[in-house]
Amino acid sequence: MNSDTLMNTAQTLVAGDKGILAMDESNSTCNRRFAAWGIPQTEERRRAYRELLVSTPGLDQSISGAILYDETIRQQLKDGTPFAQALTKAGIIPGIKVDTGAKNMAGFPGEKITEGLDGLRERLAEYVQMGARFAKWRGVIVIGDGIPSRSAIQANAHALARYAALCQEAGLVPIVEPEVLMDGEHTMQRCGEVTEEVLRTVFHQLYVQRMMLEGMLLKPNMVLPGLACPQQDTVDEVCEATIQCFRRAVPAAIGGITFLSGGQPAELASARLNAMNVRLASQTPWPLAFSFARAIQQPALEIWSGQDANGSAAQKALLHRAHCNRMARRGEYNA
Ligand code: 13P
Repeated sequence: MNSDTLMNTAQTLVAGDKGILAMDESNSTCNRRFAAWGIPQTEERRRAYRELLVSTPGLDQSISGAILYDETIRQQLKDGTPFAQALTKAGIIPGIKVDTGAKNMAGFPGEKITEGLDGLRERLAEYVQMGARFAKWRGVIVIGDGIPSRSAIQANAHALARYAALCQEAGLVPIVEPEVLMDGEHTMQRCGEVTEEVLRTVFHQLYVQRMMLEGMLLKPNMVLPGLACPQQDTVDEVCEATIQCFRRAVPAAIGGITFLSGGQPAELASARLNAMNVRLASQTPWPLAFSFARAIQQPALEIWSGQDANGSAAQKALLHRAHCNRMARRGEYNA
């Protein structure tokens, strides 16, 4: 393991005002999003859509890295250039999602455990050969009646730490993503309590498994009220609850925080990120960046709608949302 390379990659991903474009939807998630807009769910349409994203001119002004999926890292632009190479040429660091999905956890109805550790060392070596320099693994925590259980939190934290250790061994910066879902009627306070417990457990496992914290990034949820909670807190309240939680549970040494958007409307995700950077960045030891999928891509996907003729309008929309989040990192976003 080369610690300097890992630290350098982690720092570059969150340097300045840039963030990460998550374009690593699994085939089933990508197909689900395509289906909602009547887009054919074929390998070729998925490839065409990812080509549109990767070849957006000027994307590197706001985007430092892009996370690919296994199918995507094996695909090419129409001219034959592999996506990972095209990104590198454009000044964007290629990354790769390496988990194989969140499955129902046996014995724990309603809870999930992420799979993908078997054979991971070999898969990581292959991804490194293909040009990846960082990786992502997402654990999913569900809030509901009597859940999450301690068992689900511990099992997911353990898997995240084992993944992260294998990444650093392979020379890849691990993005550690424990996502507490927004679905449900729970309050923001409950989300804060669960998120704090999850983060404490994850960082304990990372310690136990000898993670070099400077060479990793955390990709957390913001502390938010459930989507169906009658009380929807203000942007400032969300921002304060999120930062309070992280200050309590996240070590200062990590390379940075790259929020997921989790299904928040794109403008709201930017407004919340902006508020954190305006009001509280001076109180946190880490850069507060983004690693959004839907909050950057959704408007572009809707405009594209599977039609190549809409490509440049879709790229404009993608660039716009990427730029908005860059502004949010600077605390200069205007909805
Ligand atoms: P969202 O920003 O749409 O939550 O996606 C981020 C991600 O990578 C989920 O794993």
